[in-house]
Amino acid sequence: MRVLYVASEYAPLVKTGGLGDVCGALPRALRATGIDVRVLLPGYPAVLDAVRRKRLVAAIGAQHGFPPSRLLRCEAPHAQPLYAIDCPALYAREGLYQDRAQRDWPDNALRFGLLARVAAILARGIAPRAWRPDVLHCNDWHAALTPAYLHFAPTLRVPCILTVHNLAFQGLFSREFLAPLGLPPQSFAIEGLEFHGRISFLKAGLVYSDRITTVSPTYAREIQGEALGCGLDGVLRGRSERLTGILNGIDTGAWDPKRDPLIARRYGPESLEGKAENKAALRRELGLAQADVPLFGVVSRFTAQKGVDLVAEIAPRLAALPAQLAVLGSGDEDLVRLLSDAARAHPGTVAVRVGYDEALAHRIEAGADAFLMPSRFEPCGMNQLYSQRYGTPPIVRATGGLADSVVDCSATTLADGSATGFAFQEPDARSFFVAIERAARLWRDRHAWRRLQKNAMARDFGWTASAPRYAEIYERLSATASRSAPAPAGASAARGTGTRRRGTRGARSARGRARARSAARRR
Ligand code: ADP
Ligand code: GLC
Repeated sequence: MRVLYVASEYAPLVKTGGLGDVCGALPRALRATGIDVRVLLPGYPAVLDAVRRKRLVAAIGAQHGFPPSRLLRCEAPHAQPLYAIDCPALYAREGLYQDRAQRDWPDNALRFGLLARVAAILARGIAPRAWRPDVLHCNDWHAALTPAYLHFAPTLRVPCILTVHNLAFQGLFSREFLAPLGLPPQSFAIEGLEFHGRISFLKAGLVYSDRITTVSPTYAREIQGEALGCGLDGVLRGRSERLTGILNGIDTGAWDPKRDPLIARRYGPESLEGKAENKAALRRELGLAQADVPLFGVVSRFTAQKGVDLVAEIAPRLAALPAQLAVLGSGDEDLVRLLSDAARAHPGTVAVRVGYDEALAHRIEAGADAFLMPSRFEPCGMNQLYSQRYGTPPIVRATGGLADSVVDCSATTLADGSATGFAFQEPDARSFFVAIERAARLWRDRHAWRRLQKNAMARDFGWTASAPRYAEIYERLSATASRSAPAPAGASAARGTGTRRRGTRGARSARGRARARSAARRR
């Protein structure tokens, strides 16, 4: 089974959030089961600098509004085969999706249109006898135009699965981009990729893909309703028999308190006293007082989705609880201001670091007593999974993947060993604070708290449960695909572009695992 996995992020090379985590981990988990998964990424500088064994596979000519580009075959860490699209005109910039002022790049339609177009070219077979996927797996709006390109290339029949990581990000663009993207006029229709007079990349994926998955069973249900359907609930209801929710797994190598090189002291369920050292170190680092009170942690994009305003609202009440708060994140200016004000007003109790800092994220997971995620909606969420593995019970709003992965602590669930955190229902500061109080009370009972930590740490959130579910979908899709395509042609025939060249192995030097340090978040 050969799968082309198409994405815009890939941890540890490029990441602005959980999309990067999942796209970095799932392909490797699938490879471990014997599937030949190759990843296709835009050639961001952080990708081209970090990969090894670069080899030119094809030169792809300018067409429609797309500038010329080069398709490189290379190797990511852990020997993961990867294709990168080298197109400096579109990708040689600091921010993945936005400039420094958090404005979307005006040519994002072409930047991600090219990702989809190259995926379609690879599906067709870049040259006779070249590697071709049996299935295409596209992630989020960035890759979601791929099934549209396949749909409008009638000789091409490669089944396509779209995974929706967040329905709120849709890739909406002016209809003026239709011709530059090389899309036929008939695609711009209500049963096609038109969405309120604009082009919607995500809708294209929802309409033209063979299967749709999202990242938790509860979110799969929620997005079929008006409240969380972002205007696409009708489309999703229409395809509900093709829609599945599969809970994300985590990279158990990168997120492991027993082996984590980024934390002050490594620990496991049998050596939980090591966590206290991480707490003390985190407090020193953030200027929080060393006191006998619980420390709550937050690592998040600062957006309404994450309920960061609720965190700012409860912050002034923590000193009296008593408890402390350590926050790391970046995003909306208003939320940055609210949280920074709270930190200034409560020195020693509330600490806020604005920015993107992977190592500090690990130190908060290890050093906090409990982790806060009061999300208004959450397709899956990764931090509540990491928290459980780090013995840092999460306090979550019961929505999406949070509802599917955290078992609320009650007398019953604590007694039967299933409790792993705290869940609350209403997305308001009052309900959130009640859950925080419950956690702070239990924390005082050291014995019960330890039980809760151990339950959480015993949960297996690796990919062993979920990766086979994707494998099953691939099998089914490729078995039922009616292969009507003629013998694969060269890239020049594939939508009329490009010539083949060879021989630029190692054209650029790899410079280690450069990460995209863009403050700009995913759009
Ligand atoms: P989302 O992708 O919606 O932002 P997730 O919970 O799925 O939320 O994943 C967030 C990922 O991004 C986690 O790995 C988290 O640690 C990381 N992250 C978010 N903000 C920051 C930040 N400011 N610094 C470092 N890591 C961050
Ligand atoms: C999105 C969602 C988040 C999910 C992540 C990975 O960023 O907001 O909930 O965990 O994708 O699937």
